[in-house]
Amino acid sequence: MPEGYDKVKTQAKSAEEHHATTRARLHQIQSQLDNAVRAGKLKGKVCIITGVGSLKGIGRAAALTFAHEGAKHLYLLDYDPTNLPELKTTIEKKYPDVKVTTMKADAADETTVSGVCQQALCEEGRLDVFFANAGIATREHLADTTADTFMNTMRINALSCFLAVKHASAAMLKANPSRGKNFSSGSIIMTASTAGIRSGAGTVDYSASKAAVNSIAQTSAYQLQKTDIRINTICPGLIETGMTSVTFEYARKRGSEGKIGQLNALGRFGIAQEIANAALFLASDDSSYVNGQNIAVDGDYLLLIPLFPVDGLECF
Ligand SMILES: NC(=O)c1ccc[n+]([C@@H]2O[C@H](COP(=O)([O-])OP(=O)(O)OC[C@H]3O[C@@H](n4cnc5c(N)ncnc54)[C@H](O)[C@@H]3O)[C@@H](O)[C@H]2O)c1
Repeated sequence: MPEGYDKVKTQAKSAEEHHATTRARLHQIQSQLDNAVRAGKLKGKVCIITGVGSLKGIGRAAALTFAHEGAKHLYLLDYDPTNLPELKTTIEKKYPDVKVTTMKADAADETTVSGVCQQALCEEGRLDVFFANAGIATREHLADTTADTFMNTMRINALSCFLAVKHASAAMLKANPSRGKNFSSGSIIMTASTAGIRSGAGTVDYSASKAAVNSIAQTSAYQLQKTDIRINTICPGLIETGMTSVTFEYARKRGSEGKIGQLNALGRFGIAQEIANAALFLASDDSSYVNGQNIAVDGDYLLLIPLFPVDGLECF
C-alpha cells in the first residue's frame, strides 16, 4: 500500500476515542431542532412528505424540520397509521403556525398520490414541495429473491417516486398569484440510496429500485425543463432508522456499536436528522440552481469502499 495510505491510518484516532466523539457529535446533531432559531426557510410553502410514520425514520425527521422552518401546510403520509396522531400533535404543539394533515395511505397508489396533490391545490391553492421518501428494504440473497419480491420492491420504492414526480409536477406547474405563486415552480425530492449508485450496499431488488429512482430524477428534470420545477434525489448511506434497527440492535447486543458504519471517510453511521437537513436544503430556495442531481449523504462511503474493501453488506 502506498505510504500516503499508511499515514492516513496512523494519524487516525483510536477506536475508543473515535466512538466517544461520534456519540457526542450525533447527540449534538439529534438536538439541533431544540437549539436552532427558526429561519423561515420554508415560509409559505405547501409540502407533502411520504413515509413519516417510523419514530426514528427520515420522513418524521423531515416533517419536524420542515415545520421548524415554517412550512405553511404539511401533508404527511404513511401506510402504517400507528404514530401519525402523535406526530401531528407534536408538530401542532411546538409549531402552532404550521398546518398538519396526516393520512394513512399507500405512497405507491396512484389515486392516493394524485389525490393528495389535488387536495393541496384545493385547500392551499399551490404545491411547492413533494418529498417522496417512503420505502422498504429487503434482505434476501439473489438466489432467494422471487419475482413477486422484486416487483413489490420496485412498486413501493420506484413506482411511488414515479407517481410523485408525475402528479406533483402537474400540480406545481399551476401558478396562482392570489396565493403568492406567480409562476410554476417546485421541488421534488426522492430518497434513493448509495445502493442505487454502486454495488455492495443493498440487495439486488432494492438496489435496482433505488437506481430507478436516481434515473427518474435525471430524466424528469430534463423533461420538465424551463418550468422551475427541480427534481433531485438524496442517496443516504447507513442511517439509524426503523429500517436498520435490527443491525444496530444486534451490534449493540454484541458490544460492537463502534464498528457500525465505519466504511466511509467520517468513520460513522448517520442519523435521520442529517438526511432531513439535506431534504430541507433541496426543499428551500437555497438550492434554487440544484436540479437533476443524485446527492450522496453518506460520510463519503462511495469514495472509501474501493480503498479498503470489506466483505458483506454495510448499508441500505
Ligand atoms: N436507513 C437507511 O440506512 C437508508 C439508507 C438509504 C436509503 N434509505 C431510504 O430512506 C427512506 C426512508 O427510510 P427510513 O430509513 O426512514 O426507514 P423507516 O422504516 O424508519 O421509515 C420508512 C417509512 O416508510 C413507510 N412506508 C413504507 N412503505 C410505504 C408505502 N407504500 N406507503 C406509505 N408509507 C410507506 C413505513 O411505514 C415507514 O414509516 C426509504 O426510501 C429508504 O429506502 C434508508
